[in-house]
Amino acid sequence: MLLGDVFPNFEADSTFGKMKLHDFLGDSWGVLFSHPRDFTPVCTTELGRAAQLSPEFIKRNVKLMALSVDSLEEHHGWSKDIMAYNNAEPGSQFPFPIIADDRRELVERLGMLDPEEKDRSGMPLTARCVFVIGPDKKLKLSILYPATTGRNFDEILRVIDSLQLTAHNRVATPVDWRVRTSVWRLMRAVLILLSVCNVCGSALKPGNSVMVPPSIPETEAAALFPAGVYTKDLPSGKKYLRYTPQPNTQQQ
Ligand code: BEZ
Repeated sequence: MLLGDVFPNFEADSTFGKMKLHDFLGDSWGVLFSHPRDFTPVCTTELGRAAQLSPEFIKRNVKLMALSVDSLEEHHGWSKDIMAYNNAEPGSQFPFPIIADDRRELVERLGMLDPEEKDRSGMPLTARCVFVIGPDKKLKLSILYPATTGRNFDEILRVIDSLQLTAHNRVATPVDWRVRTSVWRLMRAVLILLSVCNVCGSALKPGNSVMVPPSIPETEAAALFPAGVYTKDLPSGKKYLRYTPQPNTQQQ
């Protein structure tokens, strides 16, 4: 699967019933993530965290789906353990579907197996794959982790913020960027107004801004970004480090 490929419209059994991927997604974004086995420690902490963060994914119009090579019955039993691990109210439901791939059809079709890691019977384990799928059903991002390294779901939310911002705006997000909400930007604007030494455009500088991609010529950049473009002087004299304030996002 390469970035930009249409994600296969697979059919599967899940803890939320039978699903067909494209119908399940509808107009939403999706994150399909696999884990090696049910009832394992790292996977339990990961799905616990994903369940806690589920409202954050919903806020971003993202549907989560987990997958492993265990059966529906095992998924239902393990979901209860995960909710108990989270100290959730007794009887509360695990918030998103877990796909049962006990015949290993999907993990093979989607290239999710890690040939380096084997289970007790010598079968390759499923890697910790993360596939982010856009509303156009195309693959927007994929990350592969080995079984021994748990994922960071705050990072998955962060990359979704970047993917959604850059899907609607011709900008790129720099290292460690985090989305700025309108409340944050309002407070920042007030602070800048109150601070005389900050008046010279610090709102445009690193930490507050996103990058103008190299594909946009200088003449076009000025028109495209009326909030301003700050270009950092560099020893090479090349004007490629260009910042502009983060455009508005849907997340207010
Ligand atoms: C785990 O989830 O804890 C795990 C699963 C397979 C290999 C190593 C760790």
